[in-house]
Amino acid sequence: MFLAMNRFQIAKGFESGFEAVWRQRESYLSEVPGFVSFALLKGPERDDHVLYASHTQWQSRQAFDAWVDSDHFRKAHAQASTPKGTYLGHPELETFEAVLQE
Ligand code: HEM
Repeated sequence: MFLAMNRFQIAKGFESGFEAVWRQRESYLSEVPGFVSFALLKGPERDDHVLYASHTQWQSRQAFDAWVDSDHFRKAHAQASTPKGTYLGHPELETFEAVLQE
């Protein structure tokens, strides 16, 4: 099992616009070999931003790497962009390999 989380710091007041981009997106994940699940997570609220994470679960790192190199990934990221001022800083990608799974 392999997890990829991309964390976004979203400026206060831009949360609903950011969520709308995700809700309205054309998703290709269900067609991708090795894809297991997706969630957009809303996390802690800080002084100037709210933390969100896109969370995906994969059967293996190979399946995730192949998706990142694929047309599905490119098409998903070539859609309507978020309003200017949405992001504070760059998205931070973190990946995890399951050590224990129950
Ligand atoms: C390797 C790094 C990245 C991963 C693992 C990742 C993960 C994902 C996933 C799983 C989706 C949904 C795709 C679908 O449903 O078919 C997605 C869409 C999206 N990603 Fe990424 N992403 C990455 C890079 C980025 C970057 C650099 C940004 C820049 C802000 C970004 C912003 C978005 C947004 C706003 C969407 C939803 C709307 C759309 O598809 O345009 N992602 N991403």
